[in-house]
Order: sequence, then C-alpha cells, then structure tokens
Amino acid sequence: MDMAKSKIAQWISELLTDTPAQEIIAMLEYPKEESLGDLSLPCFKLSKKLRKSPMQIATELKETLEAKAAGDEFIDRIEAVSGYLNLFLKQSYLAGNVVLTILNAGERYGSRDIGTGKTIVIDFSSPNIAKPFHVGHLRSTVIGNALYRIHSFLGYQSIGINHLGDWGTQFGKLIVAYRLWGDEARLEEGAIDELLGLYVKFHEEAERDPGLEDEARACFLKMEQGDGEMLALWQRFVDISLAEFQKIYDLLGVEFDYFTGESFYNDKMEPVIQELKDKQLLEEDEGAWLVRLDQYNMAPALMLKKDGSTLYHTRDVTAALYRKQTYSFDKALYVTDYAQNLHFAQLFKVVGLMGYDWPENEMIHVPFGRVTLEGMSLSTRKGNVVKLEEVLEQTIKKVKEIIEVKNPQLQNKDEVARQVGVGAVIFNDLSANRIKDIVFSWDDVLSFEGETGPYAQYCYARTCSVLRKAVGDQLPGKARVDASLLAEQFDPTKLQHPTEIAILKELALFPERTVQAAAKLEPSIVTRYLIDLAQAFNRFYHDCPILVEDEKLRAARLALVKCVQITLKNGFSLIGLQAPEEM
Ligand code: ARG
Repeated sequence: MDMAKSKIAQWISELLTDTPAQEIIAMLEYPKEESLGDLSLPCFKLSKKLRKSPMQIATELKETLEAKAAGDEFIDRIEAVSGYLNLFLKQSYLAGNVVLTILNAGERYGSRDIGTGKTIVIDFSSPNIAKPFHVGHLRSTVIGNALYRIHSFLGYQSIGINHLGDWGTQFGKLIVAYRLWGDEARLEEGAIDELLGLYVKFHEEAERDPGLEDEARACFLKMEQGDGEMLALWQRFVDISLAEFQKIYDLLGVEFDYFTGESFYNDKMEPVIQELKDKQLLEEDEGAWLVRLDQYNMAPALMLKKDGSTLYHTRDVTAALYRKQTYSFDKALYVTDYAQNLHFAQLFKVVGLMGYDWPENEMIHVPFGRVTLEGMSLSTRKGNVVKLEEVLEQTIKKVKEIIEVKNPQLQNKDEVARQVGVGAVIFNDLSANRIKDIVFSWDDVLSFEGETGPYAQYCYARTCSVLRKAVGDQLPGKARVDASLLAEQFDPTKLQHPTEIAILKELALFPERTVQAAAKLEPSIVTRYLIDLAQAFNRFYHDCPILVEDEKLRAARLALVKCVQITLKNGFSLIGLQAPEEM
C-alpha cells in the first residue's frame, strides 16, 4: 500500500502544485467503510487555500487524476463524495504487492530505517530495592520493553536503562529495622518478603517513636559518606532484591543494557549541585536546598536535605546530564505511572533552567495509568500488595488448566502455558491506551475469544497448523512451506473473496502502524493492530476453505496464510510476546 500511497500523493501534489507530496501523504486516510474506497483524501483543509468548495476540489481532482492515472497499476476507480476523493485500488495490485513484499521481507517486514543514526534512551521498569516488584512496575517494564523493540525495529539504537530505586533514606530505614528486628534465618529463606516486613514494621514503630526516623536519616547519610558497614548491609539488600527481580525479567524475556540505579550517581552528584549553585538556581530554605519553580506553577524541586543528603530529584538531574553526555541521545524516555507527572515536569524544567536546550524536545515522560486487580489496589503500602510474581504464576497455572481441557495431547504443555500466561499479562497491559487505568481480571485476560493475547497467539498457532497440514497433505516431500516457494507459485488474481481482500488491506497497514506506535509512544497501536489482523484472519478461515482442489487458488491462499503468520510474529516480537506454534 505504501508504494501506491506515495505514488498517488505524488500525482495529487503535482495537480495541486503548491502542496508537497509529504503533506498529501499525511492527509490521506484509510476509510473504515469499504464503500468509501481504500484511500481517501478529505478536501476540507484544501478548501481555504484553493478558494473552492471541498466538493469542487474533489470533483476536479477526480477528473484530472483519472486522466493522469489511466493505465497505471494501482488505481481501479475514483469517486468524489461529499468533499472526499475516494480511491479504489486494483485488487491485483493489492494482492501482488502486499503478498510478495511480505514473503520477500519475512521477519524484516515492517521494519524501517527512519531511526538510523539516532539513539533513544529508555528508562523503564526501575523497581525499588527491598520492596516487591508490583504490577505498576510490570506496566513500566512491558511498555518500556515494547517501546525499546519498536524503536529498534525502526532502526534506532535503543538503550534500555533500569534506574533501580537503590538509594535514598529508605535504606537508612531498612538498616535501622534490620539491626533492631532483623532475623538472619528468615532473611536467608524468605529474602525479599523479610525485607518488606522490616520496612513495614519500621513505619509502624516510627509512628510511636519518631526518633527512629532520625536514626534512619543518619544511617543514610553515613551511606552517602561511604561508611563500610552501612554499605555492606545495603549491598546485601540490593543483591537479594536483584536476584528476585531477575526471575521476573527472565519470565518476561526482558533485558536491559544497563542496571544503573540511583546509587550509580552517588559520586556524580557533587559537581551537579555545584553547577546548580554556580548558575544561581539553588536557594536555601530552612537549611535545605531547592530550585524554586513558582514561576512555572510548580512546587520547588528539592535537591539537598537539611542534613546534606541527596534526593530522588538530585539523582535524576545528575542521571539526565550523565546520559546526555554518555550516549548523546536524540530522545530520552521515562516510563512511569502518571503519579510522577509533576516530578518529571520539574526535572525537565530544572535541566532546562541550567541552560541546556535539549530537554524541551528530547526528554519525554511516558506516563501510564494505574492497575487494579478487580477492585483491589496494587500499590505498595502497609505490605498488603499483590506481587507480580504471584499474578504471573497464577496466570500460568490457569492457562495450563485451560490447555488440559482444550488440547490435552499438546507436547510441552508447561512451556506453552508459560508463553501464553505471560503473553496474556503483557497483552493486557498494552491493550488500552497507556494513560487509561486498567482493571486486571483473570477471566478477561485469559479469554481465548476476547481481544486478548491468547486470542492473538491462538490465531498464530492456527496459521502454523494450516501450513503444517499443507506440507503433509499437499506438498509431499517438502519439509515446510517456505516463503520463496509460495512467492514463486503466487497468482495475485486468485485472491478475490472479500475476506481475502480484507486481510490484504490489513496486512498492508502493518508498517504504518509500527511507525505510528513509535511516534505516539503507544504500543497499544500494535496490540490493536494484531487483534484486527487476527480477526480478519479468523473471518477468512471461517469462510474460505484453504486446501482446495484448484491448485493456483490453494497456493494463493497458503501464501496469504504465510503472510499472516509472518506479520503476526513480527508484531508479537514488537511487544515481547512469544509465538508458540501449537497451543
Ligand atoms: N523507582 C521509581 C519508582 O518505582 C521509578 C524510577 C523512574 N525513573 C527515573 N529516572 N526517575 O517509582
């Protein structure tokens, strides 16, 4: 479709003389209604410029374009309707172009080089040491990972950073709590639960005995000053937590380029504080130091506490400067829940006030909505959190039960249950616009019929099974139906059924959808696309027998199935979803 679209935009641009083709490309729409064509140009925007009514423009364009496009390979017919220029593409163009493009490109179908030479830094996941990894961190992990993969697919150099919450007063609290109530044996065996228990107990006790807070602050200050004993305890907490987090990353198949958490900046903050002072941005307030942002309608950003210890902000400003210098990024993303909107607005403002001109366009907060588990909140407070590991394990268990009923003969059920269970959770996290709050409900997430991960994966498995069957029954002696064989035999005139045409159109949209997902930082555009493609495939599968007598038709349909298989798999890999061949 790409090629037809640029060619058509080129023609229209030539007819309009002062509107560049790029602008026309941006204006061209894909109508939802089939009767409105494959591509449509709304002429309303042009109306002012050309001083003609939209309908007049559409009608004139239709006439001249018809003459210009006569005998071309793309356009079947053109209509002018209520201010729109509707273009209907030739079926043979659509089929030939789309199918051969996909069969030839294979796993590169949809990839681009628009990001070549550009670097994007993505700060995501970033859980807090000594606290459980909760479902909010899962969302950051899943969204960040998808943005990482989408950008890489488009040619960017993606750099994934896990900005672990491994520094700050909470470690003073933990050290105090550990010394008072810590239990070695429990720490050995329960590890992270014991740490959380200590953290919760500290808060309970500190309500009665505020002196504990002072002690905690003193401990953290010692840490910042490099006290060996304090740092040894801290390192222990970090190791325990990291081992726990790693289990989840392995399960999700997520990797990072750097685990440079907040502690990484401990020895890098001093010059930054000095720079803030030199630039007269730091102001003293009752012994603490802060950057005032009243002018911008924001609370001040706190940089140093009364006792001289640093804060979340201090480390983020330092990290921003460090990353710019180290990676010279073109874009830096921060993926967190929207509760941190203010924090990032302050951060970008502070770096801007330091005289750097890049924050404005290059630093982007990517906020997302909260997750609740059927009425229950999933945030850390008082210890009654639902842990991500439990959610994942439960999901995998439930998938296994479903498989036992649906497909008891399946080989390696455990592996498939893991891929589908994890996939269901990933898909659910990405299925709505990221800013929306989402409710996690096992019934919805696991439904094989809803707009879910299992539904999309099931569709993929179906394409695999059709192609497997074709080898056995129809192509004896061939080990698999490979793309080049299908391309060789492909006759584009054979795909005439409305459900086939619908799939072709859907397939053609994949590259654009990927670009849109990156431009809007919205992985849900990919999940939406995958559902649309899966649904289009299932309608075809329902209506059209594939292994038919007519050899040419059979080959064309198999080619179409192969294209769906390739495109689904490419789409899955953009969001970190596995593609089991049987389920
Ligand atoms: N650790 C923080 C949290 O759990 C998220 C960190 C996000 N990244 C950053 N550079 N501030 O809320």
